[in-house]
Amino acid sequence: MQKFYIETVGCQMNVLDSELVYSGLVQSGLVPATDRRNADIILFNTCSIRQHAEDKIYSALGRLKHWKVLKPYGVLGVIGCMAQKDQNIIFQRAPHVDLVVGPGQLELLPETVHQLLDEKLQRTSEPNLVGRGEESGKKLLVSLKRREHRHAEVAGSFRLFDPVRNPEARLNRFQAMVRIMFGCDKFCTYCIVPSVRGPEQSRPPQEILDEVRRLVGQGVVEITLIGQAVNSYCYKAGGKTVLLSDILYLVSAVEGLRRLCFVTNYPRGMGEDLLWAVRDLPKVAGHLHVPAQSGSDGVLGRMKRNYSATEYRELVNRIYSTIPNASITSDFIVGFCGETDGEFLQTVELVEGSRFRNSFIFKYSERPGTKSAELYSDDVPEPVKKMRNRVLLAIQDKISLEQNRQFIGKTAEILVEGISRQFENGGVQLSGRTSCGRIVVFDAPDDRLTGQFLKLNIYDAAPFTLFGRQPEPVFHGK
Ligand code: 5AD
Ligand code: SF4
Repeated sequence: MQKFYIETVGCQMNVLDSELVYSGLVQSGLVPATDRRNADIILFNTCSIRQHAEDKIYSALGRLKHWKVLKPYGVLGVIGCMAQKDQNIIFQRAPHVDLVVGPGQLELLPETVHQLLDEKLQRTSEPNLVGRGEESGKKLLVSLKRREHRHAEVAGSFRLFDPVRNPEARLNRFQAMVRIMFGCDKFCTYCIVPSVRGPEQSRPPQEILDEVRRLVGQGVVEITLIGQAVNSYCYKAGGKTVLLSDILYLVSAVEGLRRLCFVTNYPRGMGEDLLWAVRDLPKVAGHLHVPAQSGSDGVLGRMKRNYSATEYRELVNRIYSTIPNASITSDFIVGFCGETDGEFLQTVELVEGSRFRNSFIFKYSERPGTKSAELYSDDVPEPVKKMRNRVLLAIQDKISLEQNRQFIGKTAEILVEGISRQFENGGVQLSGRTSCGRIVVFDAPDDRLTGQFLKLNIYDAAPFTLFGRQPEPVFHGK
């Protein structure tokens, strides 16, 4: 029985794609390997968002040359965003790769892997052909390029991949992601996503609901609806338009589901209907990830984000006034083309004023094929990018700590996610998350509470972690 191993980097989209690929491969008769070394098929699910992520994949592929020598019948594949972006370049840079499959073609992956395995087996079993394994057919399955074809053709080439989901493919049995839309049409100038993930396509509400029901039937209690700009969800049929707020109502009504989250939001299009749904639906988590990217109108303009810093501030105020317990998180890019000290300071001011629970800060990385690579020069020196990154992180850390300290002395309900540390005495430190997305750790004798909702007393706080303990048990009677 042939074994496969999937190595995943990148965002939640990739984590979900890997889960679906895992399920597809298992259903095709392959077996998951516990370790990369004993696998016959190795797949890298890749990310293109920054140069660094790609460099790491290419060097990991390079290291697998030896594996290919030992296992000439093995299949080495590259899937995900880098596959769509680099296509044949991958075969040129890593000639021992057999298979390149973009995110819109994953449906064809299981049968293609089987074809390759069969071909390789045939070649190595025919004595006069031994040694030709290296030259056996390469497979390239990618979607159409956005700039070269009509919208409908491109959209059609990014195909939905939705096999029945195997619970053991997930990190755990009680949390799951459900994709509600594919692709992105925002075309922020720095971003490669619209070209590698294709046009926005919203899934039919019934399909989403069926998938949620199936997952809840498998024991899932927390679902995260995902989309690159999830609040752009829009499904039109029979004269009706279904928006994300409607999906939140539909999915919330599923019995057995306890918590509903959604990521990532685009700052434009956070309508009142959406904020009201978050406020009014008890299962919907009050955590909103709304990347600002910058606090400078000049930079936002060059990024083509379609909002001003003032509009973003108004949105933050609107969120806090509508949803009093909201926790907002954001992404920022520092050192974007032409970013001056003054423009960076405007970002600092936005972070200081917005009281984010957390911010993810990235140094700008030029991506060939994007508008910013074409129009602007990547002119902020690396040391300046690093310094701005550090400064912003330190400011955010201080804010995160101040906010977390407000939880000390209060109780917080968490969904226990699993072990974060193992102690020598056999006990464990478990960790879980509040519905506002905060991580809480606490000591327990074992991991039996994993997957359960639990109320904890919070006694200490760090920027990214709250420390809790279970309340003393109360004995009634006698
Ligand atoms: N360079 C640096 N960061 C980027 N991001 C997207 N593209 C780039 C890039 N070229 C960041 C954005 C986005 C997050 C997922 O990654 O902040 O919100
Ligand atoms: Fe990239 Fe902008 Fe789309 Fe987010 S909204 S995926 S940053 S293009």
